[in-house]
Amino acid sequence: MNLMRNTLVAAALLGAQAVLMSGTAAAAAPDQCKLEITGNDMMQYDKKELAVPADCTSVTVTLHHAGKLPAAAMGHNWVLVNTPDLTAVANAGMAAGLASNYVPEGDKRVLAHTKIVGGGETTSVTFSTSILKKGGAYSYLCTFPGHNALMRGTFKFGS
Ligand code: CO
Repeated sequence: MNLMRNTLVAAALLGAQAVLMSGTAAAAAPDQCKLEITGNDMMQYDKKELAVPADCTSVTVTLHHAGKLPAAAMGHNWVLVNTPDLTAVANAGMAAGLASNYVPEGDKRVLAHTKIVGGGETTSVTFSTSILKKGGAYSYLCTFPGHNALMRGTFKFGS
């Protein structure tokens, strides 16, 4: 019992992200095809990596904004792209503006995206994994101007 508790504490110290990525976390997750990520007022996501198993036919990503600043000042979204497209999508998003959630309309390089949220708000997106390659690694970012430098991470599908 103590050993188990110590193991759990050690796991917690490694950070929630590491726990989520480990094999033991699978049992803890009620639905491995549903992911959560949180942004804050310091232009950061709380996770640098998200992963779903290959048997997920669709994925839901829920984005929380745990800060207090409004969307116009510290907006966050969650945009999934092929990694080589990250900078181009960030630039196109900036040009698209807040009214378009900083996402270029109809841009095929955008694989999935949420809207922009401000402090205290939550949004989510559900998308089919048929657009993804099994074993593939993708990138996600916030396309609010300037945010992608810090707000980016890796999205793994079945790897
Ligand atoms: Co942002």
